[in-house]
Amino acid sequence: MDEKAKLIIGDKTLELPVITGTENEKAVDITKLRSATEYITLDPGFGNTGSCKSSITFVDGEKGILHYRGIPVAQMAENSTFVETSYLLIHGELPTQKQLDKFSDSFTQHAMIHEDMKNFFYGYPSTGHPMGILSAMVCSLSAYYPELTNPEPSQEEFNKIAVMLLSKVRTICAFSYKKSVGDTFVNPRPDLKYIPNFLNMMFSSPSRNYTIDQDEVNALRVLLILHADHEQNCSTSTVRMVGSSRANLFASIAAGICALWGPLHGGANQEVIEMLQQIHKDGDNIQKYVNLAKEKDSSFRLMGFGHRVYKNFDPRAKIIKEKAHTLLNKKGIKDPLLDIAVKLEEIALKDPYFVERKLYPNVDFYSGIIYRAIGIPLNMFPVMFAIGRMPGWIAHWKEMLDDPATKIGRPRQIYTGPNRRDYVPIEQRKYSLHPTENSF
Ligand code: SDX
Repeated sequence: MDEKAKLIIGDKTLELPVITGTENEKAVDITKLRSATEYITLDPGFGNTGSCKSSITFVDGEKGILHYRGIPVAQMAENSTFVETSYLLIHGELPTQKQLDKFSDSFTQHAMIHEDMKNFFYGYPSTGHPMGILSAMVCSLSAYYPELTNPEPSQEEFNKIAVMLLSKVRTICAFSYKKSVGDTFVNPRPDLKYIPNFLNMMFSSPSRNYTIDQDEVNALRVLLILHADHEQNCSTSTVRMVGSSRANLFASIAAGICALWGPLHGGANQEVIEMLQQIHKDGDNIQKYVNLAKEKDSSFRLMGFGHRVYKNFDPRAKIIKEKAHTLLNKKGIKDPLLDIAVKLEEIALKDPYFVERKLYPNVDFYSGIIYRAIGIPLNMFPVMFAIGRMPGWIAHWKEMLDDPATKIGRPRQIYTGPNRRDYVPIEQRKYSLHPTENSF
């Protein structure tokens, strides 16, 4: 018998259907709530509210589980490539060799950006944050490929846009780095695979020899796979929300990039390193910063710690921590920030404040250590997150578009402002109608 939930409001009892997912998650379907009761629900931050059904990624925050289309992310990190993972997330199944070869070859075909787009870079100040440049450039792709801005693209058009975004995002990011250091742009090479091509565009230059380091390629492979999707996080929900108005995929992704930029989301990997640098500069006084993070009226937080969903270890953080140690040992790098991060984790995980609130290291806590070891500059860290998250955003946008239940996103609210009142002519206003400290 289908499970039901009963809602009693006053003398009324409303029966609401319960939905059960394939991993036994439960939801009360409140689609009919407002029409039946005139009541809505209120859930700032949507911590208790599902926005959709999805078959792309499963996260169990209590058990620290993360699956891409049912496959544990640790197995993907161990065995897959970022291009193969992108195929799985977007198309739902692991590709055959023939499908993978075709998918991979199309990346080569779409790696370049239009020559005119380089003028955008020349017009940007070299101090512009790469996330702002990335969002602007991705949105501008709609101007260069207007034929691909159909609100409901065909499968063929969607496949082309997906590959363009996945492939060109590397080029745009590498060019924004080269612009920031005043070095010449290096074009993508047809003979290089996804990550080596990115590293080559980032670090090779006519003025110096650059050899691609396979340990760095492998570390980035794992990082990009681990960042590839994470169900309804802030930036992915943004992509779905913008796409629900039938905005094209370029515009929806550009919005997702801006959401990811925030320090509470993808910008956290940059903030973690800045925090560790501050602690190091302050004589490695870790306890001082742990105490600061616990103070109620302090705005300081341990960046890279805590998560809306994970109330156990973020499975990605454990893998990235191991990768960081492996890469630094292989490269013979002694990074004091890694030692501080490990010590900080040890102290915090024994501290009741963090234990009671179930605050563990998240995906951003150790990733910056790897980016530093490779020589990627600090302000490019959120951009690395965006490159990784691109397949997830694309997969969710398409799932949203194909879902017959999708409607334009339009949450309700509870109004708490002034009740009805009349306009007061200016000559009759004796004082500011809203005596707030910031009124003019
Ligand atoms: C990502 O959603 C996703 O899946 C995101 C992501 C993905 O893959 O897309 O996993 C990627 O964005 C990871 C998160 C990166 N952000 C950070 O590392 C920033 C630091 N973390 C926090 O700001 C916070 O933990 C959040 C934003 C991640 C989660 O915030 P919530 O769920 O809204 O939790 P909250 O702010 O309500 O905190 C609950 C309590 C509060 O204390 P009390 O009011 O109960 O006393 O925990 C405290 C918070 O003050 N707290 C922290 C803390 N995080 C939460 N205290 C100190 N340091 C922290 N980092």
